[in-house]
Amino acid sequence: MCLAAIMSRLLIVANRLPISVSRVDGDLHVERSPGGLATGLSGPHSKSDALWIGWPGDVQDLTAEETASLERRLDELRATPVWIPPDDMKEFYEGFSNGALWPLFHHLLDQMPLHVHGWEAYERANRLFADEVCRQYNDGDLIWVHDYQLMLLPEMLRDRIPDARIGFFLHIPFPASEIFRTIAHREKLLQGVLGADLVGFHTAGYMRSFSSSLLRVLGISSNVDRVYHDQREVRLGVFPMGVDTEKFARLGDSPAVRARAAELRGMDDCAIMLGIDRLDYTKGIRRRLLAYEKFLYDHPELHGRVRLTQVAVPSRTSVEAYQDFRNEVDASIGRINGAFGTPEWAPIYYLYRGIDEVELCALYRAADVLLVTPVRDGMNLVAKEFVASRTDDGGVLVLSEFAGAASELAEAVMMNPFDVDRASQVFYRALTLPADERLERMRALRRRVLSYDVHHWVRLYLESLEGDTARTDHAVPATTLVEKLAELSGVMRAADDLLLILGYDGTLVPFASAPNLSKPDQALLDLLLRLAARDHTEIHLVSGSSRDVIEQRFGGIPIHLHAEYGFWEKPDGAATWEGGQVPVQEWRDQVLQILENFTARTPGSLIEEKTISVAWHYRMAEPEFAAFQANELTLHLSQLLSNEPVEIVTDDKLIEVRQTGVNKGIVVPRLLAQSPKGAVVVAMGDDRNDEELFDALGSEGITIHVGGGTSNADVRLPNIEAARRLLASLLD
Ligand code: UDP
Ligand code: G6P
Repeated sequence: MCLAAIMSRLLIVANRLPISVSRVDGDLHVERSPGGLATGLSGPHSKSDALWIGWPGDVQDLTAEETASLERRLDELRATPVWIPPDDMKEFYEGFSNGALWPLFHHLLDQMPLHVHGWEAYERANRLFADEVCRQYNDGDLIWVHDYQLMLLPEMLRDRIPDARIGFFLHIPFPASEIFRTIAHREKLLQGVLGADLVGFHTAGYMRSFSSSLLRVLGISSNVDRVYHDQREVRLGVFPMGVDTEKFARLGDSPAVRARAAELRGMDDCAIMLGIDRLDYTKGIRRRLLAYEKFLYDHPELHGRVRLTQVAVPSRTSVEAYQDFRNEVDASIGRINGAFGTPEWAPIYYLYRGIDEVELCALYRAADVLLVTPVRDGMNLVAKEFVASRTDDGGVLVLSEFAGAASELAEAVMMNPFDVDRASQVFYRALTLPADERLERMRALRRRVLSYDVHHWVRLYLESLEGDTARTDHAVPATTLVEKLAELSGVMRAADDLLLILGYDGTLVPFASAPNLSKPDQALLDLLLRLAARDHTEIHLVSGSSRDVIEQRFGGIPIHLHAEYGFWEKPDGAATWEGGQVPVQEWRDQVLQILENFTARTPGSLIEEKTISVAWHYRMAEPEFAAFQANELTLHLSQLLSNEPVEIVTDDKLIEVRQTGVNKGIVVPRLLAQSPKGAVVVAMGDDRNDEELFDALGSEGITIHVGGGTSNADVRLPNIEAARRLLASLLD
């Protein structure tokens, strides 16, 4: 149960707290957390009254006294720890988060283990976060969930605090849908994120990949920056994260940093190329070293006159891929220093440790060239920190096209880290850039970085999360929905006679990939059997499918069946189907020919022939191409059939050419005429065909729409499960 309202605040929820605790030689040791998320958000956190909820670091076997003292200390920093049992933490952090999601989201499939594990621990850890957020939540608080470790959390929170404002921000790239769909539990990951009101990304490209995955994995289409899901509107947005420019400018200008920078420069006569990265295989360090090696090979005149200082901050050292990577980097550096170094000069200075902010800034200020060359990186804040600290307008930024920062920092010297030969030429060019061009580029970069700092980023995101109160077009707050359903169920249960008119695909079962595959599960058959046995209850199943399909699915159940939108009817107990006169269809051959042509050109699509219509299904086809083909087909058919007695009906992944006058509305007069006086009539459906049923029924019954999309129905149910629950409630 969440606490009642006291005061509204921002709850920052991220896997890591801004400080991490570890045990060194038996004592507890506290240090700033590594990585862009923690360093980037800690400024805004310390300047506001926000509460940060997260993992305090790898500390095991704390005594009760140590735990209490740590919690007191964290409390002073407005930080709340989430304690995750060590075994779960290992599986959650090393297994699923950093063993699978991290490499996959960075397009590095070769770093994926053969057998991905840790999913259950990932779920459990997200649940522990949900428990803590609920404990801390007061009415009106804004909840801001961060990054790939917590993708299930928004939905878990939505279930428990339905009316909360929940934001989600992804700090790493979102992969191309072709890659995303290789991950296990992909549906749950997407659904988890869709629990948020606003989903933020660093670049438009990541947002596009997310939308494309929603379409391909969940079949949910988005309207550029809006997605309609589970009766709610979820907004998507692009918010490139900035850095604390004021802090870096202040530090850059400080006497301590200036003195240290001068010291670093004065060590010898060398130009300084600099790399600062977590020791992570996404950062392109090995290719950077290869390019530097080539550069040294091509430019012997620069030996003794240039050096690369590479700071590698230890990261995820318990993950095997990171251990291997460290060995490879060590070996490359050893090889290059061994081959080119002299007793007076080493081409690479290598620091394998974290450094403090003064040293960091002094390196930024001392460098001639900063090399930011990741093979893929969500944003890369090091690039922006470098620019922010260069109040002297000096230095050159070399930036990989595959860093999120590249979509903003156009004046950097761009490079492709995969092209090692060209990269070495880019290094040379950066080092020898004419002074006026160097100045011009850095000034332009500074203008960009200074105008969009981290505080601007937080403001923009939170304003967007707080604003736009029209969150849903047709939304009914979850509490109202429950009351409405209870009321509706009460009316139905109290009826002397009840007439249920039910749709099938999309109403009682999810759509299958092809029309003949949507078989009712045993639970649905049992539900219908029990409803059929209920006193004074008549059930009519009205479907667009053919007689054969409906007969196969429901032949054994004592209910009334209607196929092809009610053109065919088989009353309960009847041996055969009855129907109207099938008209001569002069249009049919020509339509079939066109559909065959489109089917041949649209892999995965198929034709369904029925007595009064012909349908083209494209649910299994590549969604964007098929939508384009469907548009073409509709235009083509509209022109061709303008004088024929047919309608062209477009529906969910379907185009149907159907005899005029046949629609689900035709069953209504028949059923009303047969039903006892005073019977309560309830119609339930999910698509455009059901809207015709609802229109025909008008005020003579209660209409219920299942799922998203527009509808004129009286009541809306979020999904198929809710529809089944309502029907089951009649049996209690
Ligand atoms: N950083 C750090 N310790 C160091 C050196 C750098 O914490 O010893 C910080 C650096 O200032 C930057 C962050 O680590 O804020 C790295 O963020 P970036 O976005 O570049 O990469 P990430 O680590 O998030 O992948
Ligand atoms: C990146 C991720 C963060 C993560 C950080 C450090 O910046 O986006 O979520 O916290 O790396 O990684 P770690 O595994 O040490 O938390």
